[in-house]
Amino acid sequence: MTIRRHLLAAAALALLAAAPLAQAQSDTVKIGVILPMTGQQASTGRQIDGAIKLWVAQNGKKIAGKNVEVIVKDDQSLPDQTRRLAQELVVNDKVVALAGMGITPSAMATAPIATQSKTPLVVMAAATSSITEASPFIVRSSFTLPQAAVGIAEWANKNGIKKTVTLVADYGPGFDAEKYFADRVTLNGGQVLEKLRTPLRAPDFAPVLQKVRDAKPDALFVFLPSGQGAAFMKQFAERGLDKAGIRLIATGDVTDDDQLADMGDVALGVVNSHHYSAAHPSALNKKFVADFMAMNKFRPNFMAVGGYDGMRIIYKGLEASKGAGGEALLAAMKGQVFESPRGPVLIDAQTRDIVHDMYIRKVEKKDGQLWNVEFDAIKAMKDPGKQK
Ligand code: PHB
Repeated sequence: MTIRRHLLAAAALALLAAAPLAQAQSDTVKIGVILPMTGQQASTGRQIDGAIKLWVAQNGKKIAGKNVEVIVKDDQSLPDQTRRLAQELVVNDKVVALAGMGITPSAMATAPIATQSKTPLVVMAAATSSITEASPFIVRSSFTLPQAAVGIAEWANKNGIKKTVTLVADYGPGFDAEKYFADRVTLNGGQVLEKLRTPLRAPDFAPVLQKVRDAKPDALFVFLPSGQGAAFMKQFAERGLDKAGIRLIATGDVTDDDQLADMGDVALGVVNSHHYSAAHPSALNKKFVADFMAMNKFRPNFMAVGGYDGMRIIYKGLEASKGAGGEALLAAMKGQVFESPRGPVLIDAQTRDIVHDMYIRKVEKKDGQLWNVEFDAIKAMKDPGKQK
């Protein structure tokens, strides 16, 4: 590094470290949300933005006598942009909390800023297990891939599926899904014939689906990030894999409520595991779905619930800290217990990660529409990725 770069880095650090002082003097508390509003992950941004709007409409814009302002920025799911926007939000806007994070690389890029500025960062979407270990200021309201992958692996073992092939997106959450699915099915006597991966950006499913066909497994296990499920399903059907007797099992990211209604009958009967279904039969969820649809005109998916619960964590935290950010806000986020539209939730005070029920669901048609219908659950599941 040159002297100039050293000086610049030191100046940036000083600005970040000064942020909490500046926040305390204001009568407005600002929450900085960074989401992919455009680009490949835009459905995640649209869902979480819709959920935040609903939360604010229901809960108002005053906490502890201060005005609340939510600032939403579009990072196009480009981690360099996420980092730059986070820095601006902390230094210029003096936000008390950062939130959003559509993909794992965005969360990882922002973690050092949360640490240096002591700004709590609520991860509402990204789901690689290790994210919460990247900064002591990260709290997660989404889920983890090990939670989802273990759920469906257990189901496969109990339901006569012996030989599997895995297919995952080639980055953090995909590696978690692949590892935790394979470890669990093999522990219980199953077999993984092949492990396939597709790129995060612009994946082409044709070559991997040919490999799946040739391997002739009992089932194909799939994890793809939210937004890719419909394209995958289309190819799965076009290549005749549904007719070739290869059962499709997945994490609920693939049978995403945002796209499920348009997937067609190829999705019918797909068993998958996840923490949220728009068909979750609680009174709270029925109200959440109705209010969300009235406001946004589309069905909420698991990303929306991550956003809604993340706002809950921030609001209740700010109430307890009387609008202060930093360590006080972080402390008030840890250990929160509440009923979410997904079911009962706890923010584990030690790991800052979410503990919730992991549901086993089957895609069924009801009143002409497809839904993930829950039929079993692993209760109060911690992240298996942290139980080393
Ligand atoms: C992630 O990048 O961590 C991620 C994105 C979308 C998902 C799950 C995980 O559906």
